[in-house]
Amino acid sequence: MTNKYIDLIDQTYYFPQEGFQVIDGNLYFYDVPLMKLVEEYGTPLRLCYLPKISAQIQKSKRLFSEAIRKHDYKGTYRYCFCTKSSHFAFVLHEALENDIHLELSSSFDVDLVRCLYADKRIDKTTFIVCNGFKPREYIYKISQLRNEGFNVLPVIDNMTELNFYSKYIDGVCPLGIRVAAEEEPTFEFYTSRLGIRYQDIFSFYENNLRNNPQFSLKMLHFFINTGIKDETYYWNELSKILRIYCQLSKICPDLSMINIGGGLPIRYSLDPAPDYEYLISEIVYQIKITCEKAEVPCPDIFTEFGNFTVGESGAMIFRVITEKQQNDSEKWYMIDGSMMTTMPDIYGIRQRFILLPVNKWNSEYQRVTIGGLSCDGNDFYSSRVHRNNLYLPQINGDEEPLYLGFFHVGAYQESLTGFGGIKHCLIPSPKYVLVDSDGNGNYSSRLFSDSQNPEHMLQILGY
Ligand SMILES: Cc1ncc(COP(=O)(O)O)c(C=O)c1O
Repeated sequence: MTNKYIDLIDQTYYFPQEGFQVIDGNLYFYDVPLMKLVEEYGTPLRLCYLPKISAQIQKSKRLFSEAIRKHDYKGTYRYCFCTKSSHFAFVLHEALENDIHLELSSSFDVDLVRCLYADKRIDKTTFIVCNGFKPREYIYKISQLRNEGFNVLPVIDNMTELNFYSKYIDGVCPLGIRVAAEEEPTFEFYTSRLGIRYQDIFSFYENNLRNNPQFSLKMLHFFINTGIKDETYYWNELSKILRIYCQLSKICPDLSMINIGGGLPIRYSLDPAPDYEYLISEIVYQIKITCEKAEVPCPDIFTEFGNFTVGESGAMIFRVITEKQQNDSEKWYMIDGSMMTTMPDIYGIRQRFILLPVNKWNSEYQRVTIGGLSCDGNDFYSSRVHRNNLYLPQINGDEEPLYLGFFHVGAYQESLTGFGGIKHCLIPSPKYVLVDSDGNGNYSSRLFSDSQNPEHMLQILGY
Protein backbone atom coordinates (compact mmCIF):
# COMPACT_ATOMS: atom_id res chain seq x y z
CA MET A 1 0.00 0.00 0.00
CA THR A 2 1.47 3.31 -1.04
CA ASN A 3 0.21 6.86 -0.71
CA LYS A 4 2.09 8.48 -3.54
CA TYR A 5 0.09 10.87 -5.70
CA ILE A 6 1.15 9.00 -8.84
CA ASP A 7 -0.30 5.77 -7.43
CA LEU A 8 -3.58 7.47 -6.64
CA ILE A 9 -3.92 8.59 -10.26
CA ASP A 10 -2.76 5.21 -11.55
CA GLN A 11 -5.39 3.43 -9.49
CA THR A 12 -8.20 5.85 -10.35
CA TYR A 13 -7.75 6.50 -14.06
CA TYR A 14 -6.34 5.10 -17.23
CA PHE A 15 -3.02 6.96 -17.08
CA PRO A 16 -0.88 8.11 -18.88
CA GLN A 17 -3.41 9.29 -21.43
CA GLU A 18 -3.66 11.62 -24.43
CA GLY A 19 -1.87 14.85 -23.55
CA PHE A 20 -0.65 13.80 -20.11
CA GLN A 21 2.27 11.72 -18.92
CA VAL A 22 4.64 11.79 -15.97
CA ILE A 23 8.40 11.32 -16.10
CA ASP A 24 10.45 11.34 -12.90
CA GLY A 25 7.62 12.84 -10.91
CA ASN A 26 7.02 15.73 -13.33
CA LEU A 27 4.08 16.27 -15.67
CA TYR A 28 4.36 16.54 -19.45
CA PHE A 29 1.54 18.19 -21.41
CA TYR A 30 1.56 16.96 -25.03
CA ASP A 31 5.18 15.87 -24.45
CA VAL A 32 6.17 19.34 -23.23
CA PRO A 33 8.03 19.24 -19.89
CA LEU A 34 6.03 21.77 -17.92
CA MET A 35 8.69 22.21 -15.23
CA LYS A 36 11.08 23.47 -17.92
CA LEU A 37 8.56 26.15 -18.88
CA VAL A 38 7.98 27.04 -15.23
CA GLU A 39 11.74 27.40 -14.71
CA GLU A 40 12.05 29.56 -17.81
CA TYR A 41 9.01 31.80 -17.44
CA GLY A 42 7.93 31.57 -13.79
CA THR A 43 4.33 31.55 -12.59
CA PRO A 44 1.47 32.32 -12.85
CA LEU A 45 1.74 31.15 -16.42
CA ARG A 46 -0.88 30.79 -19.11
CA LEU A 47 0.06 28.41 -21.92
CA CYS A 48 -1.31 27.63 -25.32
CA TYR A 49 -0.10 24.51 -27.08
CA LEU A 50 -0.76 25.57 -30.67
CA PRO A 51 -0.61 22.21 -32.50
CA LYS A 52 -3.60 20.96 -30.52
CA ILE A 53 -5.81 23.51 -32.31
CA SER A 54 -5.04 22.08 -35.74
CA ALA A 55 -5.26 18.54 -34.40
CA GLN A 56 -8.80 19.16 -33.13
CA ILE A 57 -9.97 20.68 -36.41
CA GLN A 58 -8.47 17.80 -38.36
CA LYS A 59 -10.12 15.31 -36.03
CA SER A 60 -13.57 16.81 -36.57
CA LYS A 61 -13.05 16.99 -40.33
CA ARG A 62 -11.90 13.38 -40.41
CA LEU A 63 -14.83 12.13 -38.33
CA PHE A 64 -17.37 13.99 -40.44
CA SER A 65 -15.84 12.74 -43.65
CA GLU A 66 -15.85 9.16 -42.31
CA ALA A 67 -19.49 9.51 -41.27
CA ILE A 68 -20.39 10.97 -44.67
CA ARG A 69 -18.72 8.02 -46.36
CA LYS A 70 -20.21 5.44 -43.98
CA HIS A 71 -23.77 6.68 -44.46
CA ASP A 72 -23.33 7.54 -48.12
CA TYR A 73 -24.42 11.07 -47.26
CA LYS A 74 -24.96 13.32 -50.24
CA GLY A 75 -23.94 16.66 -48.69
CA THR A 76 -20.63 18.21 -47.65
CA TYR A 77 -19.20 19.33 -44.29
CA ARG A 78 -17.78 22.76 -43.43
CA TYR A 79 -15.93 23.59 -40.22
CA CYS A 80 -16.44 27.13 -38.94
CA PHE A 81 -14.47 28.40 -35.96
CA CYS A 82 -16.53 30.32 -33.44
CA THR A 83 -14.28 33.32 -32.81
CA LYS A 84 -15.83 34.27 -29.46
CA SER A 85 -14.23 31.23 -27.86
CA SER A 86 -10.83 32.88 -28.40
CA HIS A 87 -10.10 35.97 -30.47
CA PHE A 88 -6.30 35.82 -30.15
CA ALA A 89 -4.47 36.16 -33.45
CA PHE A 90 -2.27 33.13 -32.74
CA VAL A 91 -5.40 30.99 -32.31
CA LEU A 92 -7.04 32.21 -35.49
CA HIS A 93 -3.82 31.98 -37.48
CA GLU A 94 -3.30 28.38 -36.38
CA ALA A 95 -6.96 27.47 -36.98
CA LEU A 96 -7.00 29.05 -40.44
CA GLU A 97 -4.09 26.85 -41.55
CA ASN A 98 -6.74 24.11 -41.77
CA ASP A 99 -9.01 25.40 -44.53
CA ILE A 100 -11.87 26.45 -42.31
CA HIS A 101 -14.55 29.14 -42.15
CA LEU A 102 -15.56 31.63 -39.48
CA GLU A 103 -18.54 32.35 -37.29
CA LEU A 104 -18.84 35.85 -35.82
CA SER A 105 -20.91 37.18 -32.97
CA SER A 106 -20.40 40.92 -32.72
CA SER A 107 -19.51 44.15 -34.46
CA PHE A 108 -15.78 44.12 -33.57
CA ASP A 109 -15.55 40.61 -35.00
CA VAL A 110 -16.02 42.24 -38.40
CA ASP A 111 -12.88 44.34 -37.82
CA LEU A 112 -11.08 41.13 -36.91
CA VAL A 113 -12.18 39.61 -40.25
CA ARG A 114 -10.75 42.62 -42.04
CA CYS A 115 -7.36 42.11 -40.34
CA LEU A 116 -7.34 38.44 -41.32
CA TYR A 117 -8.19 39.37 -44.90
CA ALA A 118 -5.48 42.08 -45.07
CA ASP A 119 -3.06 39.45 -43.75
CA LYS A 120 -4.19 37.01 -46.48
CA ARG A 121 -5.31 34.48 -43.85
CA ILE A 122 -8.77 34.33 -45.43
CA ASP A 123 -10.11 35.21 -48.84
CA LYS A 124 -13.49 36.08 -50.23
CA THR A 125 -14.49 32.42 -50.50
CA THR A 126 -14.22 31.91 -46.73
CA PHE A 127 -17.72 31.65 -45.25
CA ILE A 128 -18.35 34.37 -42.69
CA VAL A 129 -21.40 33.19 -40.76
CA CYS A 130 -22.72 36.16 -38.76
CA ASN A 131 -24.60 35.15 -35.67
CA GLY A 132 -25.94 36.78 -32.54
CA PHE A 133 -28.48 39.42 -31.64
CA LYS A 134 -27.35 42.33 -33.79
CA PRO A 135 -27.36 46.01 -32.91
CA ARG A 136 -27.45 48.40 -35.87
CA GLU A 137 -23.66 48.92 -35.97
CA TYR A 138 -23.03 45.16 -36.33
CA ILE A 139 -25.65 44.84 -39.09
CA TYR A 140 -24.15 47.81 -40.89
CA LYS A 141 -20.65 46.33 -40.80
CA ILE A 142 -21.90 42.91 -41.95
CA SER A 143 -23.65 44.64 -44.87
CA GLN A 144 -20.48 46.49 -45.84
CA LEU A 145 -18.55 43.22 -45.90
CA ARG A 146 -21.23 41.70 -48.08
CA ASN A 147 -21.18 44.67 -50.45
CA GLU A 148 -17.40 44.30 -50.78
CA GLY A 149 -17.84 40.71 -51.99
CA PHE A 150 -17.02 38.71 -48.87
CA ASN A 151 -18.81 35.38 -48.56
CA VAL A 152 -21.01 36.68 -45.76
CA LEU A 153 -23.98 34.74 -44.50
CA PRO A 154 -26.01 36.68 -41.92
CA VAL A 155 -28.07 34.42 -39.68
CA ILE A 156 -31.29 36.19 -38.76
CA ASP A 157 -31.91 36.25 -35.04
CA ASN A 158 -35.18 38.20 -35.06
CA MET A 159 -37.75 39.61 -37.41
CA THR A 160 -36.57 43.24 -37.40
CA GLU A 161 -32.97 42.43 -38.39
CA LEU A 162 -34.04 41.80 -41.97
CA ASN A 163 -35.29 45.36 -42.52
CA PHE A 164 -31.81 46.76 -41.95
CA TYR A 165 -30.17 44.43 -44.45
CA SER A 166 -32.81 45.51 -46.99
CA LYS A 167 -31.59 49.06 -46.52
CA TYR A 168 -27.85 48.45 -46.45
CA ILE A 169 -27.12 45.50 -48.77
CA ASP A 170 -26.80 45.86 -52.52
CA GLY A 171 -27.76 42.88 -54.65
CA VAL A 172 -28.89 39.46 -53.53
CA CYS A 173 -27.84 38.27 -50.09
CA PRO A 174 -27.87 34.69 -48.84
CA LEU A 175 -29.35 34.33 -45.36
CA GLY A 176 -29.68 31.91 -42.54
CA ILE A 177 -32.35 31.73 -39.86
CA ARG A 178 -31.56 30.75 -36.30
CA VAL A 179 -34.27 28.59 -34.80
CA ALA A 180 -34.78 29.32 -31.10
CA ALA A 181 -34.16 25.95 -29.44
CA GLU A 182 -36.15 24.71 -26.48
CA GLU A 183 -33.96 24.86 -23.38
CA GLU A 184 -33.08 21.85 -21.28
CA PRO A 185 -35.96 20.96 -18.91
CA THR A 186 -34.00 21.98 -15.79
CA PHE A 187 -33.12 25.45 -17.17
CA GLU A 188 -34.74 28.67 -15.96
CA PHE A 189 -36.41 29.38 -19.32
CA TYR A 190 -38.34 27.25 -21.78
CA THR A 191 -37.00 28.74 -25.01
CA SER A 192 -33.65 30.25 -26.00
CA ARG A 193 -33.72 34.04 -26.20
CA LEU A 194 -31.70 33.75 -29.42
CA GLY A 195 -33.32 32.96 -32.72
CA ILE A 196 -36.88 32.87 -34.06
CA ARG A 197 -39.29 30.53 -32.37
CA TYR A 198 -40.44 27.40 -34.18
CA GLN A 199 -44.01 28.49 -34.81
CA ASP A 200 -42.96 31.82 -36.39
CA ILE A 201 -40.43 30.48 -38.87
CA PHE A 202 -42.90 29.63 -41.64
CA SER A 203 -44.85 32.88 -41.45
CA PHE A 204 -41.55 34.80 -41.35
CA TYR A 205 -40.45 33.05 -44.51
CA GLU A 206 -43.83 33.45 -46.26
CA ASN A 207 -44.24 37.11 -45.37
CA ASN A 208 -40.70 38.38 -45.70
CA LEU A 209 -38.54 36.10 -47.79
CA ARG A 210 -40.49 33.93 -50.18
CA ASN A 211 -41.17 36.61 -52.77
CA ASN A 212 -38.31 38.90 -51.85
CA PRO A 213 -35.72 38.93 -54.64
CA GLN A 214 -33.14 40.60 -52.37
CA PHE A 215 -32.66 37.52 -50.17
CA SER A 216 -32.10 33.85 -50.61
CA LEU A 217 -32.68 31.64 -47.57
CA LYS A 218 -29.82 29.14 -47.57
CA MET A 219 -29.27 27.99 -44.00
CA LEU A 220 -31.15 26.83 -40.95
CA HIS A 221 -29.18 27.13 -37.73
CA PHE A 222 -29.70 26.13 -34.14
CA PHE A 223 -27.53 25.99 -31.05
CA ILE A 224 -28.15 23.86 -28.01
CA ASN A 225 -26.79 25.54 -24.90
CA THR A 226 -25.95 22.32 -23.14
CA GLY A 227 -23.85 21.15 -26.08
CA ILE A 228 -23.85 17.95 -28.11
CA LYS A 229 -24.52 15.06 -25.76
CA ASP A 230 -25.78 11.55 -26.17
CA GLU A 231 -29.00 12.46 -24.33
CA THR A 232 -32.66 12.31 -25.25
CA TYR A 233 -32.93 16.10 -24.98
CA TYR A 234 -30.23 16.66 -27.61
CA TRP A 235 -31.57 14.07 -30.07
CA ASN A 236 -35.12 15.42 -29.63
CA GLU A 237 -34.06 18.97 -30.40
CA LEU A 238 -32.05 17.83 -33.39
CA SER A 239 -34.99 15.91 -34.78
CA LYS A 240 -37.36 18.91 -34.29
CA ILE A 241 -35.00 21.17 -36.23
CA LEU A 242 -34.58 18.57 -38.94
CA ARG A 243 -38.34 18.32 -39.36
CA ILE A 244 -38.52 22.09 -39.76
CA TYR A 245 -35.64 21.98 -42.23
CA CYS A 246 -37.47 19.39 -44.33
CA GLN A 247 -40.82 21.24 -44.30
CA LEU A 248 -39.16 24.53 -45.15
CA SER A 249 -37.06 22.99 -47.83
CA LYS A 250 -40.22 21.92 -49.69
CA ILE A 251 -41.31 25.53 -50.13
CA CYS A 252 -37.85 27.11 -50.22
CA PRO A 253 -35.75 25.51 -52.95
CA ASP A 254 -32.65 27.58 -52.05
CA LEU A 255 -32.37 26.03 -48.58
CA SER A 256 -29.35 23.75 -48.70
CA MET A 257 -27.36 24.14 -45.43
CA ILE A 258 -27.93 23.04 -41.86
CA ASN A 259 -25.76 24.62 -39.19
CA ILE A 260 -25.76 22.60 -35.97
CA GLY A 261 -23.80 25.25 -34.06
CA GLY A 262 -21.11 24.49 -31.50
CA GLY A 263 -21.10 22.37 -28.40
CA LEU A 264 -18.88 19.43 -29.29
CA PRO A 265 -17.67 18.47 -25.80
CA ILE A 266 -14.09 18.39 -24.56
CA ARG A 267 -12.44 16.52 -21.67
CA TYR A 268 -12.86 18.12 -18.26
CA SER A 269 -11.50 15.16 -16.31
CA LEU A 270 -9.25 12.15 -16.80
CA ASP A 271 -12.35 9.98 -17.35
CA PRO A 272 -12.69 8.46 -20.83
CA ALA A 273 -13.16 11.02 -23.60
CA PRO A 274 -16.61 11.53 -25.21
CA ASP A 275 -17.30 9.09 -28.04
CA TYR A 276 -16.81 11.62 -30.84
CA GLU A 277 -17.02 9.02 -33.57
CA TYR A 278 -20.44 7.88 -32.41
CA LEU A 279 -21.81 11.41 -31.85
CA ILE A 280 -20.76 12.64 -35.29
CA SER A 281 -21.84 9.51 -37.08
CA GLU A 282 -25.26 9.66 -35.40
CA ILE A 283 -25.75 13.33 -36.29
CA VAL A 284 -24.98 12.67 -39.96
CA TYR A 285 -27.21 9.59 -39.93
CA GLN A 286 -30.14 11.44 -38.32
CA ILE A 287 -29.92 14.21 -40.89
CA LYS A 288 -29.81 11.69 -43.68
CA ILE A 289 -32.75 9.53 -42.62
CA THR A 290 -34.96 12.51 -41.79
CA CYS A 291 -34.30 14.08 -45.19
CA GLU A 292 -34.75 10.82 -47.04
CA LYS A 293 -38.06 10.18 -45.32
CA ALA A 294 -39.24 13.67 -46.26
CA GLU A 295 -37.82 13.27 -49.77
CA VAL A 296 -35.68 16.39 -49.65
CA PRO A 297 -31.97 16.56 -50.61
CA CYS A 298 -29.49 16.23 -47.75
CA PRO A 299 -28.09 19.62 -46.74
CA ASP A 300 -24.46 20.64 -46.45
CA ILE A 301 -23.56 20.49 -42.76
CA PHE A 302 -21.91 23.42 -40.96
CA THR A 303 -20.56 23.40 -37.41
CA GLU A 304 -19.27 26.26 -35.25
CA PHE A 305 -17.05 24.53 -32.73
CA GLY A 306 -15.33 26.93 -30.34
CA ASN A 307 -14.52 25.08 -27.15
CA PHE A 308 -13.66 21.95 -29.09
CA THR A 309 -11.23 23.89 -31.29
CA VAL A 310 -9.25 25.71 -28.65
CA GLY A 311 -10.23 24.43 -25.18
CA GLU A 312 -7.79 21.53 -24.92
CA SER A 313 -4.83 23.63 -26.07
CA GLY A 314 -4.82 25.75 -22.91
CA ALA A 315 -3.27 25.42 -19.46
CA MET A 316 -2.88 27.71 -16.48
CA ILE A 317 -0.06 27.04 -14.03
CA PHE A 318 0.27 28.40 -10.50
CA ARG A 319 2.74 27.96 -7.66
CA VAL A 320 1.44 27.04 -4.23
CA ILE A 321 2.73 29.80 -1.98
CA THR A 322 1.77 28.18 1.27
CA GLU A 323 -0.72 25.91 3.00
CA LYS A 324 -3.21 27.08 5.62
CA GLN A 325 -5.05 24.82 8.04
CA GLN A 326 -8.25 26.75 8.86
CA ASN A 327 -9.95 24.09 10.98
CA ASP A 328 -9.50 20.35 11.58
CA SER A 329 -10.78 19.38 8.15
CA GLU A 330 -10.15 22.40 5.91
CA LYS A 331 -6.70 22.80 4.52
CA TRP A 332 -5.99 25.41 1.85
CA TYR A 333 -3.29 25.62 -0.76
CA MET A 334 -2.87 29.34 -1.41
CA ILE A 335 -1.67 29.98 -4.96
CA ASP A 336 0.22 32.86 -6.57
CA GLY A 337 -2.70 33.95 -8.73
CA SER A 338 -6.45 33.99 -8.89
CA MET A 339 -8.83 31.50 -10.44
CA MET A 340 -11.48 34.16 -10.50
CA THR A 341 -9.41 36.47 -12.72
CA THR A 342 -7.98 33.81 -15.03
CA MET A 343 -10.66 31.09 -15.24
CA PRO A 344 -13.95 32.83 -14.39
CA ASP A 345 -16.01 29.79 -15.43
CA ILE A 346 -14.93 28.18 -12.16
CA TYR A 347 -16.93 30.57 -10.00
CA GLY A 348 -19.38 31.64 -12.73
CA ILE A 349 -20.77 28.26 -13.73
CA ARG A 350 -18.88 25.99 -11.30
CA GLN A 351 -16.92 24.63 -14.25
CA ARG A 352 -14.62 21.75 -13.53
CA PHE A 353 -11.24 21.66 -15.29
CA ILE A 354 -8.55 19.00 -15.27
CA LEU A 355 -6.38 19.86 -12.28
CA LEU A 356 -3.04 18.11 -11.84
CA PRO A 357 0.20 18.85 -10.03
CA VAL A 358 3.05 19.78 -12.34
CA ASN A 359 5.69 18.23 -10.06
CA LYS A 360 5.97 16.12 -6.89
CA TRP A 361 4.01 13.17 -8.30
CA ASN A 362 6.12 10.88 -6.11
CA SER A 363 5.08 12.66 -2.91
CA GLU A 364 2.30 11.55 -0.61
CA TYR A 365 -1.00 13.31 -1.11
CA GLN A 366 -3.58 15.08 1.03
CA ARG A 367 -7.06 16.54 0.67
CA VAL A 368 -7.05 20.29 0.07
CA THR A 369 -8.96 23.24 -1.35
CA ILE A 370 -7.23 25.77 -3.57
CA GLY A 371 -7.45 29.40 -2.56
CA GLY A 372 -6.95 32.30 -4.99
CA LEU A 373 -5.09 35.52 -4.33
CA SER A 374 -8.08 37.82 -4.50
CA CYS A 375 -9.93 38.39 -1.25
CA ASP A 376 -13.22 37.32 -2.78
CA GLY A 377 -14.84 34.46 -0.88
CA ASN A 378 -15.62 32.73 -4.17
CA ASP A 379 -12.05 32.62 -5.42
CA PHE A 380 -11.49 28.92 -4.74
CA TYR A 381 -11.46 25.51 -6.36
CA SER A 382 -12.89 22.79 -4.17
CA SER A 383 -13.88 19.15 -4.13
CA ARG A 384 -17.43 20.25 -4.95
CA VAL A 385 -16.40 21.94 -8.19
CA HIS A 386 -13.96 19.10 -8.91
CA ARG A 387 -16.74 16.57 -8.25
CA ASN A 388 -14.24 14.31 -6.51
CA ASN A 389 -12.20 14.78 -3.40
CA LEU A 390 -9.41 17.15 -4.33
CA TYR A 391 -6.17 15.37 -3.49
CA LEU A 392 -2.79 16.94 -4.26
CA PRO A 393 0.81 16.18 -3.27
CA GLN A 394 1.83 17.24 0.22
CA ILE A 395 4.21 20.13 0.60
CA ASN A 396 5.80 19.19 3.92
CA GLY A 397 7.77 22.38 4.09
CA ASP A 398 9.97 21.17 1.19
CA GLU A 399 12.40 23.50 -0.49
CA GLU A 400 10.89 22.61 -3.86
CA PRO A 401 7.60 24.49 -4.34
CA LEU A 402 4.53 22.67 -5.61
CA TYR A 403 3.16 23.79 -8.98
CA LEU A 404 -0.42 23.13 -10.07
CA GLY A 405 -1.85 23.11 -13.57
CA PHE A 406 -5.45 23.63 -14.66
CA PHE A 407 -5.80 22.09 -18.11
CA HIS A 408 -8.16 22.51 -21.08
CA VAL A 409 -8.87 26.10 -20.14
CA GLY A 410 -8.21 27.43 -23.66
CA ALA A 411 -11.71 28.66 -24.55
CA TYR A 412 -13.68 31.68 -23.32
CA GLN A 413 -11.67 32.38 -20.15
CA GLU A 414 -9.78 35.42 -21.48
CA SER A 415 -12.87 36.75 -23.26
CA LEU A 416 -14.86 36.57 -20.04
CA THR A 417 -12.21 37.95 -17.75
CA GLY A 418 -10.94 40.61 -20.15
CA PHE A 419 -7.31 39.75 -20.74
CA GLY A 420 -5.09 42.68 -19.78
CA GLY A 421 -7.81 44.79 -18.22
CA ILE A 422 -8.66 45.67 -14.64
CA LYS A 423 -8.98 42.66 -12.41
CA HIS A 424 -10.35 41.90 -8.97
CA CYS A 425 -7.94 43.21 -6.29
CA LEU A 426 -5.76 44.51 -9.17
CA ILE A 427 -4.37 41.04 -9.75
CA PRO A 428 -2.47 41.24 -13.04
CA SER A 429 -3.10 39.18 -16.14
CA PRO A 430 -0.49 36.40 -16.16
CA LYS A 431 2.35 35.84 -18.56
CA TYR A 432 1.10 34.18 -21.73
CA VAL A 433 3.41 31.71 -23.48
CA LEU A 434 2.87 29.96 -26.80
CA VAL A 435 4.24 26.48 -27.28
CA ASP A 436 4.77 24.89 -30.65
CA SER A 437 6.18 21.59 -31.87
CA ASP A 438 8.19 20.61 -34.95
CA GLY A 439 6.26 17.35 -35.20
CA ASN A 440 9.35 15.31 -34.25
CA GLY A 441 8.99 15.60 -30.51
CA ASN A 442 10.84 18.91 -30.24
CA TYR A 443 8.97 21.83 -28.77
CA SER A 444 9.67 25.54 -28.81
CA SER A 445 8.14 28.30 -26.74
CA ARG A 446 7.85 32.07 -26.95
CA LEU A 447 6.44 34.79 -24.80
CA PHE A 448 3.25 36.21 -26.28
CA SER A 449 2.60 38.67 -23.52
CA ASP A 450 4.39 39.51 -20.29
CA SER A 451 2.47 39.71 -17.05
CA GLN A 452 0.64 42.99 -16.63
CA ASN A 453 2.59 45.70 -14.84
CA PRO A 454 1.25 48.29 -12.37
CA GLU A 455 1.76 51.17 -14.82
CA HIS A 456 -0.51 49.50 -17.38
CA MET A 457 -3.32 48.99 -14.88
CA LEU A 458 -3.02 52.41 -13.34
CA GLN A 459 -3.09 53.95 -16.80
CA ILE A 460 -6.39 52.17 -17.56
CA LEU A 461 -7.69 53.51 -14.26
CA GLY A 462 -6.82 57.06 -15.23
CA TYR A 463 -3.88 57.67 -12.87
C1 LIG B 1 -24.27 30.43 -31.91
C2 LIG B 1 -23.13 29.75 -31.29
N1 LIG B 1 -22.37 28.95 -32.06
C3 LIG B 1 -21.27 28.32 -31.55
C4 LIG B 1 -20.93 28.47 -30.22
C5 LIG B 1 -19.72 27.74 -29.72
O1 LIG B 1 -20.03 26.79 -28.79
P1 LIG B 1 -18.88 25.84 -28.23
O2 LIG B 1 -17.79 26.70 -27.79
O3 LIG B 1 -19.53 25.11 -27.11
O4 LIG B 1 -18.48 24.94 -29.36
C6 LIG B 1 -21.71 29.28 -29.38
C7 LIG B 1 -21.35 29.46 -27.98
O5 LIG B 1 -21.96 30.13 -27.20
C8 LIG B 1 -22.83 29.94 -29.93
O6 LIG B 1 -23.61 30.73 -29.18
